[in-house]
Amino acid sequence: MTRATLLSAFALFVLAAQGPSGAPPPAAEDFHASYGEWAVAADQTLASQAGAEILAAGGNAADAAAATMLALGVVNPASSGMGGGGFLLYYEASSGELTFLDFRERAPAAATPDMFEEAPSPVEGPANRASQVGGLASGVLGEPAGVAEMVRRFGRLPLGRVVGPAARYAEEGVPVSEPVSRMSGYFAAQMKRDAVMSGWFAEGAEALAPGQRLVQPELGQTLRAFGRGGARAIYRGRIAREIVRANRAVGGLFTVEDLAAYEVKEREPLEGTHFGHRWVTAPPPSAGGFTMLQSLAILEQIPERHRPVAEGDRPGPAFLHALAESWKGPFLDRQRYFGDPDHVELYLDRMMAPERIEARAGAFHPTLAMPAADYDQPLFPEEDAVHQSDNAGTSHLCVVDGEGNVAAVTTTVNLPFGARYTAAGIVMNDEMDDFASAIGEMNAFGLPGGAPNLPGPGKRPISSMTPTIVFGPDGLPALCAGAAGGSRIVTATQQVALHHLVFGMALGEALAAPRVHHQGAPDQLRTENVMPMDDERIAALVARGHAHEPIRNIANAQVISIVREGDEVTLTAASDPRKGGRPAGR
Ligand code: DON
Repeated sequence: MTRATLLSAFALFVLAAQGPSGAPPPAAEDFHASYGEWAVAADQTLASQAGAEILAAGGNAADAAAATMLALGVVNPASSGMGGGGFLLYYEASSGELTFLDFRERAPAAATPDMFEEAPSPVEGPANRASQVGGLASGVLGEPAGVAEMVRRFGRLPLGRVVGPAARYAEEGVPVSEPVSRMSGYFAAQMKRDAVMSGWFAEGAEALAPGQRLVQPELGQTLRAFGRGGARAIYRGRIAREIVRANRAVGGLFTVEDLAAYEVKEREPLEGTHFGHRWVTAPPPSAGGFTMLQSLAILEQIPERHRPVAEGDRPGPAFLHALAESWKGPFLDRQRYFGDPDHVELYLDRMMAPERIEARAGAFHPTLAMPAADYDQPLFPEEDAVHQSDNAGTSHLCVVDGEGNVAAVTTTVNLPFGARYTAAGIVMNDEMDDFASAIGEMNAFGLPGGAPNLPGPGKRPISSMTPTIVFGPDGLPALCAGAAGGSRIVTATQQVALHHLVFGMALGEALAAPRVHHQGAPDQLRTENVMPMDDERIAALVARGHAHEPIRNIANAQVISIVREGDEVTLTAASDPRKGGRPAGR
């Protein structure tokens, strides 16, 4: 694919994967609410309600997060579901323990580093590289194993009960939301090639209509089978064989052994103490947590007079400039060094070394945007400069239950409707696009990958997903946060948290406030059309030399804040007005 086609495909995802087109954000009171007992924030209202139903039935945060994930896959099959994968960060209140579960997709055993180099596009239309659509684009699904594991390890209800709301939504049907309608309009021609998805379109329709009832009987059966038999029902036997058949029918490499071999990995979360709070977040194979923690560390090293946190009640241009500059170095590290930690050596400690962070902070200029290369800190002397070329599904949810357990989950099938084929009623992911198709080649989010992130047997591709829990000075969770939106996940998550915890904005305001994004390459400071930043701050950033590039929006985030006063707890839950969901709680 030429760079021009790739960029136009990228622009399409930005358009397609986000919330209502140009529609004004909902009234402030609609997207956030406060509760005294428990709360769920998902980006689709019915999914928040599925979690709430499970909490009301005696489930805890793990049960509710699992039910919310499964429901999301039914009400928005464009963004996430059983055919994808994700990450869970779980805080268990009784022990104070934090657990990170990685249920990201894995390349099949037949994957090779050059599998995408010469692979022809399997179909016409947007996002049509072999890593983005069709069988080769799919990694072995992780979501069913992840859901089963979180319910088994932390949950209180049987899996069959947790599956209930999602299975009911699939069997009885749910109204098609605005974002799903829009995404189906972009990908209609490809979706209609699939027997299940073509049945979703009314005769002659070029998109699913908002409000149209989407009934998914086959997915309902698969969900019920999963509820009865657990992960085994998906990874072995009839459904596993059906997944292999469907994948191979569209050019994939899956075998029944690939499915049987899938494993959830428990990993040590990353953490750091910055701006008076302990931030606990996603480790590799996500690069998101690393990028966020290093950005925070660099910001703290920049003298406060150059990045004042008291420029009124919102980040001023000086702070936004420092923030944009702080992301350039860690995004270079991601490009060069990140790969599946089970397959390549990661140099996390060396990357986070204080002298390296100091050197990056030292390259900062308070009134001038520096080229990303000025923040480059090669770990090995013989390295070439990183070649920078120019360079959306997913869903984040938060649950806090009555015991104080917190679940932060980000889950995805990658691009809208994943690889745009189904197996056993499940939309299959195109997570293989998060590998580097070749060294330096960009993925759909304009993120180039290096040799460590080439595909390989059983490997997991690098992710931006950043489920995060921030702890307050009292040592207890103060905020659950995370986002969807490719490379913008990490910058959005960080900003929402900073808005609330450091600038003191009320949670709804912190979420709705305009955000900026910079990922080093391309050398552009992005702002949002849907939540426009005032001209004054933009002019002040442009005056520092930033190339300003407005885009539709910067990710979709879900958050819950936890405030304790004596025995009283106030949970404020908010679903990003950019995507139109509502939280639920009691
Ligand atoms: O894991 C990742 O970073 C990507 N697969 C996430 C994709 C995404 O957020 C699409 N969103 N709009």
